[in-house]
Amino acid sequence: MNGIILKSPKILLFVVLILLMFMNCNETNKIKRIKLGHGLDTNHPVHKAMVFMAERIEKQSTGRIKIDIYSSQQLGSQRECLELLQLGSLGMTKVSSSVLESFAPEFEIFALPYLFRNDDHRFKVYEGKIGRDLLHGLVKYRLMGLGYYDAGNRSFYTRSKLIKSPEDMTGLKLRTQESAMAISLVNTLGGAATPISWGELYTSLQQGVVDGAENNLPSLYTSRHYEVCKYLSMDEHTSIPDVILISHLIWEKLSKNEKKIIQEAVDASVKYQKEIWQDETKFALKKIQDSGVKIIYPDKAAFIKKIEPIYRSYINKRGGSLLLQIKGVK
Ligand code: GCU
Repeated sequence: MNGIILKSPKILLFVVLILLMFMNCNETNKIKRIKLGHGLDTNHPVHKAMVFMAERIEKQSTGRIKIDIYSSQQLGSQRECLELLQLGSLGMTKVSSSVLESFAPEFEIFALPYLFRNDDHRFKVYEGKIGRDLLHGLVKYRLMGLGYYDAGNRSFYTRSKLIKSPEDMTGLKLRTQESAMAISLVNTLGGAATPISWGELYTSLQQGVVDGAENNLPSLYTSRHYEVCKYLSMDEHTSIPDVILISHLIWEKLSKNEKKIIQEAVDASVKYQKEIWQDETKFALKKIQDSGVKIIYPDKAAFIKKIEPIYRSYINKRGGSLLLQIKGVK
């Protein structure tokens, strides 16, 4: 039989063509599975937005691309997820821009306190040229930024002391994200910054390793830190976005159409997250209030005055050009 095939060039060509078609068919039918690891709880609005994104990708790719989401630091801390992304061992992640800072220093800008005038200003920066250029610039760090999820405003909460002004922060051990800018903010305000990963924070608060922390309302609620921290001071010092990323190594292997499907799904999920954020924030506030947390809205002027040196040292280190561009966004 083999002899007949080899002797007849036509039959040989036919067999080769069938084999090639079969291989090709297999390639197009192969399902691409991309793992996405992040640190938030499954009830968090940012997690919900990523589920929305994954469903959309699966639908638009008619089931050929599947995103498997691992929440709550199951695949490691945010920093570890970024390292795995650079190696191509993890496909996607969502991290706070604060954690991204030590990989891409340009992202420090978003940790500057009282950077934005209001919500509208913030969204214009994320969604406009400045935000996009920052995301695309990540390629030089072997990362690919796909979009920003809003993370509202961050405020301080503590176990046993109400922060009415920066003076009340003196000596308080406050958890920060693993970021130089976040550490400098707490120290400049008079506290003692203690960087701890998000996943370890509940236990650290419970055991009194730290006296408090800071975050937005949906994160304070979904992490259940309000069970331990009974004082919340809505000073709204920073608005630090979450960033959704894909490994550059994996991105480069995707077809043009696959890239389009993923980017469009991310964009739609960013819009969806923005829509649900307001309601989720109101819901979180109500739950936190109902649990007996004392909430105050302090005068922000004293905080704004006290953080001035952070701007001076930022400009010394990074120059003022990006800052001016952001301030100039109307
Ligand atoms: C927010 C943010 C997370 C971040 C967390 C933190 O919840 O959305 O990405 O991990 O703050 O303070 O660590």
